[in-house]
Amino acid sequence: MITLNVNGRAQQVDADPATPLLYVLRDDLQLNGAKFGCGLGQCGACTVMVGGAPVLSCITPVAMVGNRPVKTVEGLGTADKPSPLQRAFMDEQAAQCGYCIAGMIMRAQALLERNPSATEAEIRRHMAINLCRCGTHMRILRAVRRAAESIKAAGGATEHRDGERHA
Ligand code: FES
Ligand code: FES
Repeated sequence: MITLNVNGRAQQVDADPATPLLYVLRDDLQLNGAKFGCGLGQCGACTVMVGGAPVLSCITPVAMVGNRPVKTVEGLGTADKPSPLQRAFMDEQAAQCGYCIAGMIMRAQALLERNPSATEAEIRRHMAINLCRCGTHMRILRAVRRAAESIKAAGGATEHRDGERHA
């Protein structure tokens, strides 16, 4: 058995240590936000956070996670109470088909938790790894900028969960 801390909860999974984290999240824990795009570490659809950093979960063996906390898009907010990034992606209509969006949000989340004052160049450089085959990159960048502004205005809160904001 492998123990993971996912979205603040301890989870035990019976998985081969070489199993990609993405498969464990989706197949064992029913966290289907992160998507299988290429399976080769080339598109970013599977991006989640591990230990505060963005990680391509399709090429990350679950055994490499260790005791570092895993955060997925399900851990940010809810439909009723979206996080600042989720709200901004909706406000900017950043999704077309939506397949890339959970990965985009989690990559941006990792940046804004570390640096909500990221410059335009820093945002572009950080987000460049994740691809959107619908081509909504400009709206996605606008959404990240909008979220950064609202996070700064809220004093650094980047999540919205259980009715509370978390710094
Ligand atoms: S599915 Fe992981 S990088 Fe494409
Ligand atoms: S919205 Fe379709 S892949 Fe990005």
